[in-house]
Amino acid sequence: MTTTAATPLAFAPPTAPGEGLGRMVTTLVGSEILRIAGEVRALQAAGQPVLNLTVGDFAPRQFRIDPELEQAIVRALAAGETNYPPSDGLMPLREGVRDLYARSFGLEYPLAGILIASGARPVIWGAYQAILDPGDTVVYPVPSWNNNHYCHLTGARQVAVATRPDNGFLPTAEELAPHLPGATLLALNSPLNPAGSGFGREQLAAIARLVVAENRRRGAADKPLYLLYDQIYWLLADDSAPHATPVELVPEVAPYTIFVDGISKAFAATGLRVGWVVAPPHLAARMRDLLGHVGAWAPRPEQVATAGILADAGQTARLAGAVRAGVVARLAELERGLARLVAAGHPVRYLPPAGALYLSVHFDLIARFGNNRGIRKFLLEEAGFAVVPFHAFGTADDNGWFRLSVGAVGVEEIAPALERVAAALARLG
Ligand SMILES: Cc1ncc(COP(=O)(O)O)c(C=O)c1O
Repeated sequence: MTTTAATPLAFAPPTAPGEGLGRMVTTLVGSEILRIAGEVRALQAAGQPVLNLTVGDFAPRQFRIDPELEQAIVRALAAGETNYPPSDGLMPLREGVRDLYARSFGLEYPLAGILIASGARPVIWGAYQAILDPGDTVVYPVPSWNNNHYCHLTGARQVAVATRPDNGFLPTAEELAPHLPGATLLALNSPLNPAGSGFGREQLAAIARLVVAENRRRGAADKPLYLLYDQIYWLLADDSAPHATPVELVPEVAPYTIFVDGISKAFAATGLRVGWVVAPPHLAARMRDLLGHVGAWAPRPEQVATAGILADAGQTARLAGAVRAGVVARLAELERGLARLVAAGHPVRYLPPAGALYLSVHFDLIARFGNNRGIRKFLLEEAGFAVVPFHAFGTADDNGWFRLSVGAVGVEEIAPALERVAAALARLG
């Protein structure tokens, strides 16, 4: 091969945002959380101590993937598992997911309903694409994660349903019912990002019954109402709030239910990119074809390694249990610190954590700062306490609620940070 001198290429910046690009990407909104993360990095680089409770991820120095999972990936690479995987995933992994759902939820899905993909995101995107035509209605509760963006990507009509703190920000059947006639998709998530709460069995069963009733009302020519149930955090649910699924509670909802799941959170393995959908086979088949066109398969060595873990109920429980223990220790420390703020009379309240990565906290400071943005800036700049406001999850930006995410912090960093918050609040007078 001959080498030639490289020509430096110059690109003129567009004169208007999105100039020359498609309408959908021109109006696409970037991630608010990533923008806040940039501010946090700048403060840290300037030497200010910051407790970074913003990212819904794990810092590997806090949560390293299990050595058995790591070594299994290395072994698969060394064994030459480096070509394209089958477009619906390696059979041992699909069997592992089938067995996991059978032993955990008592649900026996056919293998044809199980599709492996590169994490939960492509699964959600694929489900939206497979079900919706532009203008179809998606109903989702707020606060919730990214449904607004997935609606934008598919051109769907969005109906965001407000929820209440006393229900852990999870919707009730009564709140959802008026919006379901004519809708094509109801998108739910439990345990919930951002609140960390999980559906109670009765609350979820009532919603599942609504979905069944709405479908029974529809004619043969009508599109069904589907229920997307994103349970990516279920293996991290606390024993105090056991996880429930709509299909085990109301089996008649199975033909409409799409489970979104994967190892990203359960095994603190967000970078490995292994997720799956469990759904009616005809839908999984079209999602396989769709995701195949974008090549959103999980990497083959990671599939081999994950299959080995899921095949062993004890290993699966051990890996998820270790992550859960680390998360629970951090959430408990946060809760102790927040309880001290409450006891000292500061304008703070919070929802008891239920085991996902998150805890939600309310700062009653809107009268002082005007909106959540103002409170967030105050906490970051005056106390080095970096949090994400609920308006990043679709709520109004003056409700005073924030998400605290514990995957990137050490237990020992938490108490000093809350002392800084107490001092900053005291300075407000
Ligand atoms: C509710 C929810 N679903 C899905 C995802 C994405 O998971 P993955 O990293 O597997 O794409 C996240 C990530 O934060 C999430 O919070």
